[in-house]
Amino acid sequence: MGRRQILESAITAKSPEALGDLYSQWAGSYDNDLLNEMGYKAPATTASIFQQFHTDKVGTILDVGCGTGIVGALLSDSGYPAIEGLDYSDAMLHEAKKKGVYRELFQADLNKTLTVANDRYSALISVGTFTFAHVGPEALHELIRITRPGGVICFTVRSEAWNEHGYKGFTEDLEAQGKWALLDRQTIDYIEEEHSTCEVLVYRVS
Ligand SMILES: C[S@@+](CC[C@H](N)C(=O)[O-])C[C@H]1O[C@@H](n2cnc3c(N)ncnc32)[C@H](O)[C@@H]1O
Repeated sequence: MGRRQILESAITAKSPEALGDLYSQWAGSYDNDLLNEMGYKAPATTASIFQQFHTDKVGTILDVGCGTGIVGALLSDSGYPAIEGLDYSDAMLHEAKKKGVYRELFQADLNKTLTVANDRYSALISVGTFTFAHVGPEALHELIRITRPGGVICFTVRSEAWNEHGYKGFTEDLEAQGKWALLDRQTIDYIEEEHSTCEVLVYRVS
């Protein structure tokens, strides 16, 4: 399967098992395919936005849907010392471990309740995980629960998924309920080869 077909299969997967199988096959060539061949811009841009809002380098950050660890490596290069990673795919976590930048890596399904304590993290970052056939807006409840009050949550949503999966109403309802406050929203280039964009949202948890 070529890289365009793999990406297409990732956003049209019919079940978590099918998606997991796909990432198992893709893990070894994922970084080269996306970063070098397809122009995956979102990690660098999002890491840069995150750094504007999470300037405290003392607390622990969780990279949500860390994949092979592209985002963790960027944050580590920028001097963040305490980064953990969560992903559904053991194969992607295996690749992330090789980067040597995460204090801890663990397998979890963001579509379920997480076995993580309330207020555990100072900040969360998530790139490329809120998209079709992956994770939907309902998972934001758990992300808020595991972030300490005052902490930052920065995440991307593929722009078509933002429009089709009700993210606007969902995120605004959470704000109306006093769960978090919007700090920033931008539309950025996502994957150059497919001319796609994603939304980057930054919230402060209440
Ligand atoms: C496009 S990759 C992004 C990985 C990394 N953040 C990056 O930017 O390269 C999406 C990741 O989400 C993970 N994922 C998909 N569904 C998930 C779920 N339900 N729970 C946790 N991780 C999930 C996949 O295993 C994959 O590693």
